[in-house]
Amino acid sequence: MYLSDELPTTTSYQKVLGCGCIIGGILFFMYFQIQQKPVSFIWKPVQVWYTPEQRIKRPTYINQDHAFCGPCPADKRFSTAWQLTDLVTLISPKTPFLLNIGAGTADGGIYDPTYPLLTNFTPLFSALLIDPSTNPSHFNAYPNRSNIHIIHDYIWSETIVENILQKYNISKYFTLLKVDIDSYECSLLQSILQSGYQPQIIHTEFNPIFAPPVIFIPIYNSTTKHDWNPPLWSSSGPFYGCSLSALSKLLLSFNYTLVELDFWDVIYIKRDIVELIQVQVPLNDKVAYEYGFMSHSCFAYCRGNVKLYNEHIDGAIKTALNQSNFTKYMTNIIDLFAPVSKKTNLKHPYIISI
Ligand SMILES: *[C@@H]1O[C@H](CO)[C@@H](O)[C@H](O)[C@H]1NC(C)=O
Ligand SMILES: *[C@@H]1O[C@H](CO)[C@@H](O)[C@H](O)[C@H]1NC(C)=O
Ligand SMILES: *[C@@H]1O[C@H](CO)[C@@H](O)[C@H](O)[C@H]1NC(C)=O
Ligand SMILES: *[C@@H]1O[C@H](CO)[C@@H](O)[C@H](O)[C@H]1NC(C)=O
Ligand SMILES: *[C@@H]1O[C@H](CO)[C@@H](O)[C@H](O)[C@H]1NC(C)=O
Ligand SMILES: *[C@@H]1O[C@H](CO)[C@@H](O)[C@H](O)[C@H]1NC(C)=O
Repeated sequence: MYLSDELPTTTSYQKVLGCGCIIGGILFFMYFQIQQKPVSFIWKPVQVWYTPEQRIKRPTYINQDHAFCGPCPADKRFSTAWQLTDLVTLISPKTPFLLNIGAGTADGGIYDPTYPLLTNFTPLFSALLIDPSTNPSHFNAYPNRSNIHIIHDYIWSETIVENILQKYNISKYFTLLKVDIDSYECSLLQSILQSGYQPQIIHTEFNPIFAPPVIFIPIYNSTTKHDWNPPLWSSSGPFYGCSLSALSKLLLSFNYTLVELDFWDVIYIKRDIVELIQVQVPLNDKVAYEYGFMSHSCFAYCRGNVKLYNEHIDGAIKTALNQSNFTKYMTNIIDLFAPVSKKTNLKHPYIISI
């Protein structure tokens, strides 16, 4: 929706011009002159696609990460999405730096979406890789070089800025922030961005159970973070990370635009950079989700994955969208899936809305 914000402005200008009236034209010219300064905050247009056919064709590659969704055959794991290496090439940062929160994967890290940036890109790419796992088999394929640091820790919203960004002297305008924590990414991103950090690119996983326009956010509370059974990140159900629309709304408030969605991964880029590099972007979350997730070649094979699709919730959302109070209707359903506190027996707090 926000991408079409400029369109009404242009259309009304055109209408004024269209009347062909000289006075109108002069008044318009004066109005335009006066408005020049105040309207300078309006974003410059970017290339938008509305239907998959309008997407600029991109090379196909095999995204092995999608094998983890379930029984997706090898020949369906292809992707035509923007790869991070291509986007970083377009941005061409002088001192490329990656902060990777949740960097461990099977086979030493090779399935991490940032792995190609650290291996076949430039050895100047420096990185801080963080993951609570201490198992070497989750990291040992990352290059062993002096500008790549690996630390094993849990990351929390209230300590990320002091314990990581400040402690490791990370620049306010670093190249890439990657987040894969299956839980409180909205809260974590908010802490980072609110502290004035402006990564050029944000790559994060989202919770696809809740399709746009549904906002689902598990509410983070530092006091009770260890109380939940199960913890969100080890949940084998639909109650874990925040939804796409929740992420987009939060990131829009920090001037980020959704550029690419590939199954459960989404890439946002600072809006001024999107304008600069003129990368094509989807019209809105719904278009991105329908093409990148629902029509993904693995989706049909992986519907049984409880973290990707939940028939009960999907049906409830469709019904709730046609109720006078969406939140009230949905709360009765989501409560069935919310983890329970080991201390108080209360359900994990969350936001569900449209
Ligand atoms: C990385 O390289 C350094 C120096 O070459 C070596 O001392 C260290 O053991 C290596 N670390 C790993 C995990 O291989
Ligand atoms: C932190 O980084 C800046 C450049 O980004 C550098 O000028 C400064 O010396 C660094 N400080 C420390 C303590 O490493
Ligand atoms: C966090 O949880 C504690 C303990 O239940 C509660 O007292 C506090 O109000 C909560 N904080 C927020 C911000 O909700
Ligand atoms: C977003 O961009 C606008 C226009 O450049 C600017 O006025 C605003 O301060 C920016 N907001 C943030 C959070 O950076
Ligand atoms: C629900 O949908 C039906 C048709 O599908 C429509 O007639 C009705 O007005 C809708 N109700 C609300 C509350 O939107
Ligand atoms: C919808 O229901 C919730 C309680 O579930 C309530 O807090 C909220 O005010 C209601 N919204 C409207 C618009 O009635």
